[in-house]
Amino acid sequence: MSESTKAIVVGVGPEVGLGGALCRRFAHEGLHVFVAGRTAERVEALVRTIRADGGRATGVPTDATREQDVAALFEHVAGEGDGPLDLVVYNAGNAVLGALHDMETRVFEDAWRVGCFGGFLVGREAVRRMLPGGRGTVLFTGATASVRGRANTTAFAAAKAGLRSLAQSMARAYGPQGLHVAHVVIDGGIAGDKIIKGLPQFAQAMGEDGLIGLDGLADAYWYLYRQPKTAWTHELDLRTFKEPF
Ligand SMILES: NC(=O)c1ccc[n+]([C@@H]2O[C@H](COP(=O)([O-])OP(=O)(O)OC[C@H]3O[C@@H](n4cnc5c(N)ncnc54)[C@H](OP(=O)(O)O)[C@@H]3O)[C@@H](O)[C@H]2O)c1
Repeated sequence: MSESTKAIVVGVGPEVGLGGALCRRFAHEGLHVFVAGRTAERVEALVRTIRADGGRATGVPTDATREQDVAALFEHVAGEGDGPLDLVVYNAGNAVLGALHDMETRVFEDAWRVGCFGGFLVGREAVRRMLPGGRGTVLFTGATASVRGRANTTAFAAAKAGLRSLAQSMARAYGPQGLHVAHVVIDGGIAGDKIIKGLPQFAQAMGEDGLIGLDGLADAYWYLYRQPKTAWTHELDLRTFKEPF
């Protein structure tokens, strides 16, 4: 089998979503993409689309909050093909909203598991695999909540701020050893199924070009991946021209 550089995207849902857009873009650029999401049917649907477009993709159903799933994912990637793992994206996240005084303990903990703990499991495994080769890129998806807690984002903001701190610590620990770690603050709603189909009234209220475009987001992640090690970005923020920030 010929050598093919490998990428893993953890946290893939609908095809028209950030995880889906990243997988399609990386495959289009020639990487062998390992598509990791909780819902096997969604993962397989995306893999079929990428292959139909001539790209290389493998689906590995994974719950990012389960240590054994994350270990099995990286084992699977190591065992398929002969190229190096060079890019890992932690994209899972759920915008859990709610006021603190009404919040059940489980809600806070679940938000943290997906938003932060999964990032630790995936980041740790990525570093373990990449350090021996002295190269690789690990990207984390953030949100407005990564840098600002609001009245109703108690759980989500705590989780996303934790993920951002994890990314900073990783960048400082492993950058000097050749690993590029970056965090992307997505400041606003994304023009994907989650908002357009799930929250149509919100999408409509944002008006024309009011949601952040998937192509522009995929461009940004690809740009981070392609940066030379003499000019690395650690954090990038993206919003529409309409966003009052
Ligand atoms: N959507 C927005 O407007 C928006 C705005 C700012 C930032 N973000 C951030 O962007 C990232 C992705 O956004 P998104 O959810 O809207 O769309 P997405 O990239 O289309 O989908 C991500 C998918 O990750 C999967 N997932 C959730 N928990 C998981 C877990 N424990 N293990 C594996 N996969 C898991 C979910 O699919 P299943 O349900 O099928 O498991 C979810 O649909 C998140 O980090 C989010 O915080 C989103």
